[in-house]
Amino acid sequence: MKKITFIGTGYVGLVGGAGISEFGHSVTCADIDQNKIARLQEGEIPIYEPGLESLVKQNVAKGRLHFSDNVPESIQNADIIFIAVGTPQGSNGEANLSAIESVAKTIGENLNGYKIVCTKSTVPIGTGKRIEEIIRSINPNSDFDYVSNPEFLREGAAVKDFLHPDRVIIGTRTQKAIDVMGEVYRPLYINETPIISTSVETAEMIKYAANAFLSLKISYINEIANLCEAVGADVHEVARAMGLDGRISAKFLHPGPGYGGSCFPKDTHALAATGQKYSSPLYTVEAAIKTNASQKVRMVDKLQRLMDGSFKGKTVAVLGLAFKPQTDDVREAASRVIVSQLVDSGTTVHAYDPIAMDNFKIHFPDIQYFDSWQDAVKNAHACILLTEWNEFRGMDLNELKDLMKRPVILDTKNILSIHGLESSGFTYDNVGRKLHL
Ligand code: UGA
Repeated sequence: MKKITFIGTGYVGLVGGAGISEFGHSVTCADIDQNKIARLQEGEIPIYEPGLESLVKQNVAKGRLHFSDNVPESIQNADIIFIAVGTPQGSNGEANLSAIESVAKTIGENLNGYKIVCTKSTVPIGTGKRIEEIIRSINPNSDFDYVSNPEFLREGAAVKDFLHPDRVIIGTRTQKAIDVMGEVYRPLYINETPIISTSVETAEMIKYAANAFLSLKISYINEIANLCEAVGADVHEVARAMGLDGRISAKFLHPGPGYGGSCFPKDTHALAATGQKYSSPLYTVEAAIKTNASQKVRMVDKLQRLMDGSFKGKTVAVLGLAFKPQTDDVREAASRVIVSQLVDSGTTVHAYDPIAMDNFKIHFPDIQYFDSWQDAVKNAHACILLTEWNEFRGMDLNELKDLMKRPVILDTKNILSIHGLESSGFTYDNVGRKLHL
């Protein structure tokens, strides 16, 4: 059993800390945010993530998972320190590393004997080296090994992804660190999870290369969807047939209003910025970024066309605010861009999301929120569906039509039956499928 401290209790830190305690280690999740730690100590989970609450509670009850706002003490007591603080996007596209640098300083000030310092946050290539330099400049005699151990979990499936990863990447320079990290992830050996040792820089690159590739895949299928509309093809049939080619795979070929969330938008910008910095530009990634931004705006244009060219004085119901289902996260969500444009063009916006409304209210306090989709769509001139929550898949289209002022809908996730929409008499549009006006 290892003594482990996670610094940072966001998605990665909390899921990672709880997950590693589930592997049998003694874990302290530490954060400088005293209020957050107090809430966690009371048993309150600050984020919505399926399975997280029970994972945390079970491990707290077994005495393996603790929370602390005393970061220095948590560092001193640990064999392994995981850095899991945020790396938001800075104004120039590069990741903002101020939280990482501040944690590195605190680690340097508190190292007492051999430890592993391991970064889980997504950090630009070269950051590991920088963290090592900061620690050694503060504490020249410090005895530690640095590891880059990027995390690949998805929001909404984070617990499952952490406990059953496709692979674990251990980027470090010494065999000793590889062995210690092997101990941490020992339960995964039983499942034959590939554990891959690389250099620090390679591990850092793997994370960005994977996220940027998935972003590219989505932007690609979105452009193909747009072309399908122009030539009269069906993107779902195209994607399905493409996905049957094992070299392509069916995953991440769902068209939509553009990807969002705290990772793809930030990581593609950061990788493109790194490419520019090293004069090795990533034109494909830069294109994916542009395509994604224009896809969001394209949804507003589509809606406007469905509404005879004008939003003014009309009411639009927005169904789904989260950047994807099973999360209350609205960071970089398509809903943010779309609602903002609707508000600017004088539209009354009625919004509904099963769990993301509180987070959305922080950004749009003045639009109207409702407790059900039925209430949100009442007397609306049109409806735009932005998140593929199951409750929207099961909507009774006749009920929807009867509640609305006009039966007009833009299904940006292609989850409603075209046949159902046509037989209920809707004027509708979607992304890359048959258009009926
Ligand atoms: C993503 C990666 O999938 C994780 O592997 C990675 O660990 C994580 O970023 C991270 O870097 O921390 P996440 O942002 O939680 O995870 O969400 P995804 O499920 O990947 O979805 C991202 C966005 O792409 C969503 O807006 C989703 O609707 C969109 N998407 C996804 C599509 O538009 N089409 C698809 O086919 C798939």
